[in-house]
Amino acid sequence: MKIITKFILLLVGLALTSPGFAGKDPKMNAIKARQGEMQLRAFNAGPLFAMAKGDLAYDAAMASKLAGNLKLLLDLDNGRAWMKGTDNEAYPGKTTSLPKIWTTYPEIGEYGKKYRSAVTDLAAVAGTGADALKSKIGALGKSCKGCHDEFREKK
Ligand code: HEC
Repeated sequence: MKIITKFILLLVGLALTSPGFAGKDPKMNAIKARQGEMQLRAFNAGPLFAMAKGDLAYDAAMASKLAGNLKLLLDLDNGRAWMKGTDNEAYPGKTTSLPKIWTTYPEIGEYGKKYRSAVTDLAAVAGTGADALKSKIGALGKSCKGCHDEFREKK
């Protein structure tokens, strides 16, 4: 009996200390989840911006894949990650999300729509040539920046 109890305690201890496990605070988990989604956007959009600028050689297959990934991410319903009480006043230093996101809701949705159409337009042509990519990348950059300017803490 004693050994079993010890074993269970050991398992619980492992579960709590293992970095692979989600933390105990659901709001902190939500913040991390949305930041993770943003990181994926940046990871996929980065080379597209670089190709448009000429910092990276245009590669049709890669451009098409990356823009397609951004489009796939649009299908992710990550709304739960934007739960109330997770702004930068409640979690200073953990998130750059301004309270305005929630106090002016659904205003941020308008910025989300602009982002959605920019991604859709880009994904339609990204693999068809550098000029086509360049013609649509500006709107994408503006849509990221537009939302960040309004709803993110300035560094
Ligand atoms: C509709 C609004 C909106 C759009 C569009 C948007 N973002 Fe964000 N982004 C945010 C908000 C809000 C945060 C702050 C997240 C937090 O810390 O809670 C953020 C944070 C980030 C971060 C920092 C994540 C971290 O780990 O702290 C990156 C990187 C980022 N966005 C990249 C992008 C890129 C690239 C695009 C466009 C391809 C984009 N975002 C489009 C709202 C937006």
